[in-house]
Amino acid sequence: VFDHVVRAPEDPILGVTVAYNKDPSPAKLNLGVGAYRTEEGKPLVLNVVRRAEQMLVNDSSRVKEYLPIVGLADFNKLSAKLILGADSPAIQENRVTTVQCLSGTGSLRVGAEFLARHYHQHTIYIPLPTWGNHTKVFGLAGLSVKTYRYYDPATRGLNFEGLLEDLRSAPSGAIVLLHACAHNPTGVDPTTHQWEQIRQLMRSKALLPFFDSAYQGFASGNLDADAESVRMFVRDGGECLVAQSFAKNMGLYGERVGALSIVCRTADVAGRVESQLKLVIRPMYSNPPIHGASIVSTILKDRTMFQEWTIELKAMADRIISMRQQLFDALRGRGTPGDWSHIIKQIGMFTFTGLNSEQVAFMRNEYHIYMTSDGRISMAGLSSRTVPHLADAIHAAVTR
Ligand code: LMR
Repeated sequence: VFDHVVRAPEDPILGVTVAYNKDPSPAKLNLGVGAYRTEEGKPLVLNVVRRAEQMLVNDSSRVKEYLPIVGLADFNKLSAKLILGADSPAIQENRVTTVQCLSGTGSLRVGAEFLARHYHQHTIYIPLPTWGNHTKVFGLAGLSVKTYRYYDPATRGLNFEGLLEDLRSAPSGAIVLLHACAHNPTGVDPTTHQWEQIRQLMRSKALLPFFDSAYQGFASGNLDADAESVRMFVRDGGECLVAQSFAKNMGLYGERVGALSIVCRTADVAGRVESQLKLVIRPMYSNPPIHGASIVSTILKDRTMFQEWTIELKAMADRIISMRQQLFDALRGRGTPGDWSHIIKQIGMFTFTGLNSEQVAFMRNEYHIYMTSDGRISMAGLSSRTVPHLADAIHAAVTR
């Protein structure tokens, strides 16, 4: 009965790792998936995470019971506080409902399913380009997906006029997906002033903001600065949704820990929204896993551990920034044609190099360097040792 099933293509991002794993070359380098690596090219488990895990293991009162449908209560409160700010009026007025979800993707999907059932507008605008999974997450939840202009290949920066124009012509009430910081894949963010203009325009047209916050702390190394875009929209008293991931900033990739917060107008509405979120979650996976959320709440609620986390987070962000400088210097040193200053201007985990799919294929075939076909490279996968190899490959690709 399954004879007709055709083989599906690999995922455009996760499939890069599949291809990389098959490559026997010792020189191979995976700059596809956004996953942090040390200078030695190894995955990193933060010391503070190890310590939290040890505390959890040693606590014999801990059991493996089901969590509630909405997840761990402490985790939810602390996650909302982290993204919205401890002094957020929305939190103080109990207008925020937060549910623990399966990392960023799960949070986006639960939010999308909720909107498809309970929000009057079913059109969502996502930036062009955006993280490849956004289209599928929102489309499969039943929303109609449209794009707004975001990146300008000519300047390798933000197409701000195009963005405003597209949001201005969106139907009133449409949902708009915004990357809270460190836009994936471009590494290009609006300035604070531009965010303010976006906010004013969106509020004047009653467009509903849905933030994807996957890199809080990774863009600037500062948790508050990277949450400022979200907080601007919360300060004005209006509604918004925020999907949070702890994959990158706590290095909890495989633990699948994230949160969806919906900021409402009143506490009463927030309570009713939460009751409906439970109906979305229960038939999908019943309730979320306990381990990752326990790690996060252990760290967030302890002053010293929180402090330790911010130091480790800043060290990851700083290493990425230093990789940008090293790659830029290496290309300049080789006299590689083109203006590569976008490498040091873009922020977050990724550089959107501007390399085309043929150049990407050339680098994979000839240099065993793996990246997504849109020319995005994960700076977090680079090290001082591998920068020269990458610079050689880019140089060869653009001078071919
Ligand atoms: C990425 O963009 O590489 C990450 O967000 C990982 C993923 O799931 O795609």
